[in-house]
This record gives sequence, structure tokens and C-alpha cells, in this order.
Amino acid sequence: MEIIRTIKDMRQWRAKGGTVAFVPTMGNLHEGHLALVAEARRRAERVVVSIFVNRLQFGQGEDFGAYPRTFDADCHKLIDAGADALFFPDEAELYPRVRQDFNIEPPHIQNELCGAFRPGHFRGVATVVCKLFNIVGADVACFGKKDYQQLHVIKAMVDDLNMPVTIVPVDTGRAETGLALSSRNGYLSEEERAEAPRLYRNLSMMRDALLAGENDYAALENRVREDLTGAGWTVDYVEVRQADTLEIAHAGEKRLVVLAAARLGRTRLIDNVEVMR
Ligand code: PAF
Repeated sequence: MEIIRTIKDMRQWRAKGGTVAFVPTMGNLHEGHLALVAEARRRAERVVVSIFVNRLQFGQGEDFGAYPRTFDADCHKLIDAGADALFFPDEAELYPRVRQDFNIEPPHIQNELCGAFRPGHFRGVATVVCKLFNIVGADVACFGKKDYQQLHVIKAMVDDLNMPVTIVPVDTGRAETGLALSSRNGYLSEEERAEAPRLYRNLSMMRDALLAGENDYAALENRVREDLTGAGWTVDYVEVRQADTLEIAHAGEKRLVVLAAARLGRTRLIDNVEVMR
């Protein structure tokens, strides 16, 4: 696997031809990321993964400094997964002026759900992903459904700005307990790890109720909020939304997604389930 640190070298690698599938990451790779790489392998002749912990998408007081940087282990995993190249720029390469004056400004949805608790987060994500797309020039890019709102913002950006890349959504990888795989799971204590699957259990309960015809979304949301709070979680949101637009869902809607974010100790976990009825 070739390790590429500059934009110039990345463009040269791309220019060698063939179809390219791209998996952008912030490193600290787990099975969920490797499923993205496997999907990328199926989609194109050559696969490039990026690792870049993007300061722009972290808010004040968030875990930018503490975000796990595990380069050596990540490289081994990517080689085993069959990646052809790793794009690993440093901050000076991607943000040479330190400031980023031009940004991608997502629509109002950027201020809802996770965006309400992480102001500027989706602007930071969209901006770095746009930069990476411009640098890598991939035909296809794979994103996990675990970050459902992120996937939505990126799909909308690519559609609205006619970016020549196809976005491939990949299902959330889960531990046997149902817990969604996430780099932030590494922050959980043993006790918290045993508690963490409660989030997915609740979302699954909501899915089953919605599939059975329940249309009182607020009642379901409150039930889950109460269950989590009672078990010591701090709930940011639990919401039923339209799967395709992430707008507020009305009773009877057929394509839904239930999204939640809640904190267990100092760890903020997010998860979601789609409900197609
Ligand atoms: O999902 C992530 O790891 C990041 O938000 C991404 C897409 C790599 C942008 O920094």
C-alpha cells in the first residue's frame, strides 16, 4: 500500500488511471471502516483511504486533541483489507493558511439533530469532504450509515453542486450486542460498554412499533428518552424523521429513520435505524 502525504502525489496517483473508490476516515479504524474498504474494493479497480483528523468539524470543548491517532495499527488493517493507497496529509497540507475562508455551507438541516448540539460540525465535514473529493478525484466514495446525517449532507452536497462522484452508503457495523461500531466506543469503561447497547435496543423497539403501525412518534421518543435517562444517560435527542430528507416526519409516513444521540459518562454515542413500512 502506497502512503501518500501530499496533494501533488495524490493527484499523480489518481492520474495513473482506472476507476477509483475512496473511503474518507479520521483513522482509529475498526471493522465498520473495513466494511467500507471492502465495499470500495467491489466498486472500483483501485481503492484509496484517507486518514485526516479534521479540526474544522470539532467544536470548542470537543475531543479533537484526544481523538485517538493510531497510524501504525491503521496501516496494518488497511493492508489486510486490500487498500491500494492511504492519503495521510498533515494539517499544513490541507489547511496551509490555517484559516479556511471558503466553506461549504449546508442547508438548515445542519442546525438540527446532531447539528443542534455541534454548531458548525456539518460545515466542517462538508468542507473537508469537498476538499478531499477535489484532491482525490474518485469515481465512488463510501460512507457509513451510522453517521446518517453526515451521509445526508454529503449526498445533498454532491447532488446540488454536481460533483462527479457517486456516494455509496454502507450499513452500520455492529457488535454482537447490537452496539454500533464507532471509534468513540474506545472511550467507554467496561461498565459503560455493558450499558451502551441500550441505545440500539431502544431504537429497535421503536422500529418494531413503527412497523406495527404506531404513528404517535412523540410518545415513542419520550418513552426512549425516559428509559435512557433512567439508566443514567444524558439524551441529546431521539427523533423520528423522514429517511430521504431528514425533515420532520408526519403520521403515516412510509420511509422513516429513527435517530438518537446520547451521552454515557463522557462519551457521546449516536445511532439510527431505518424503518421502511
Ligand atoms: O466520518 C468521518 O470519519 C469524518 O466525518 C469524515 C467523513 C472523514 C470527514 O472528516
